[in-house]
Amino acid sequence: MKEFRGRIAVVTGGGTGMGRELARQLSAEGCHVAICDVSAEHMAETKALCERQAPRGTRVTTHLCDVSDERQMLAFRDAVQESHATDHIHLLFNNAGIGGGGSFLKTDREEWDRTFAICWGGVYYGTRAFLPLLVASREAHIVNTSSVNGFWAVLGPNIAHTAYSAAKFAVKGFTEALITDLRLNAPHVKVSLVMPGHVGTSIVMNSAAVLGRPSPKEMTTEDLVPYRDQMSHQGIPRDALSDDQLRAALQKIGEDFRDKAPLTGAAAATIILEGVRSDTWRILVGEDAKALDRMVRTAPEDAYEPDFMTRLRAKGLFDLSLQPEE
Ligand SMILES: NC(=O)c1ccc[n+]([C@@H]2O[C@H](COP(=O)([O-])OP(=O)(O)OC[C@H]3O[C@@H](n4cnc5c(N)ncnc54)[C@H](O)[C@@H]3O)[C@@H](O)[C@H]2O)c1
Repeated sequence: MKEFRGRIAVVTGGGTGMGRELARQLSAEGCHVAICDVSAEHMAETKALCERQAPRGTRVTTHLCDVSDERQMLAFRDAVQESHATDHIHLLFNNAGIGGGGSFLKTDREEWDRTFAICWGGVYYGTRAFLPLLVASREAHIVNTSSVNGFWAVLGPNIAHTAYSAAKFAVKGFTEALITDLRLNAPHVKVSLVMPGHVGTSIVMNSAAVLGRPSPKEMTTEDLVPYRDQMSHQGIPRDALSDDQLRAALQKIGEDFRDKAPLTGAAAATIILEGVRSDTWRILVGEDAKALDRMVRTAPEDAYEPDFMTRLRAKGLFDLSLQPEE
């Protein structure tokens, strides 16, 4: 699909980050956009930003929907059909996601299941719900957001990352399998897999909010225990930081993740849309994602060894650690 003007795009998780930037860039080209999110406030901001740049007559609609709940996803689809007076859409961006569910052994099961349900279920239910509307278009494109954690299941040798990685691997496998299925059964519908490296968004803070975690400032001594466990996995004494120092370090990690990334959400959205235009199924977002992809493919047996991370850092990649002591 070379042009987005006059098309209809659905973007999940359009409240902030890459979803917001996709909505902005698409609507700026005159593409009608329907976004969903769990935050009405963030969606209202996205809508206002879109309307500032979009040509007259471009529709931008917002819909509250938790993508991990199939009934809400179906209601979202019905609302899109009604508010855009349409029986088809051209673009589906299954973008909503959160980080969480670190350890399969230690993290509580509710958080693990919620993370998996959003990151995988959102893509699955989104594709199920909107596929008939995509097939009904003359040409259409599905864009599923995985991650570098869709081919590398860790954040570093000392940080377990199981639910998110399992879900992102599922997104990758599903999307790759769809390439052939669509080619055989609906060749006018294309599909792309997005694998971003580090992109500067509020995902750390948003994920905590979606999971109902307190903000670092509000964390009790008990809430800080898992972070002290993480410190000890890294060889740092559990009591190296006072509670207040640890709260401040955790706050800074979320802010640094957003503010010190090698790529902005806007630049990431431009790369994703360029990938759709050029019908690239495999969209690696960022030089860090490209380098990591090469390293994992070259020596898969090494991917989970401590010195793999050292070599990554030596290349200046993934320098921003999620570790509280940095
Ligand atoms: N930022 C990165 O470095 C990075 C790297 C790799 C992959 N990703 C993936 O990119 C996608 C976009 O993330 P982002 O970085 O822009 O983060 P973000 O937090 O800015 O955006 C994600 C949006 O999804 C929404 N959301 C969360 N749970 C939801 C639910 N249950 N239903 C509906 N909406 C929900 C959030 O409210 C938020 O608006 C995610 O799938 C994420 O996993 C991000």
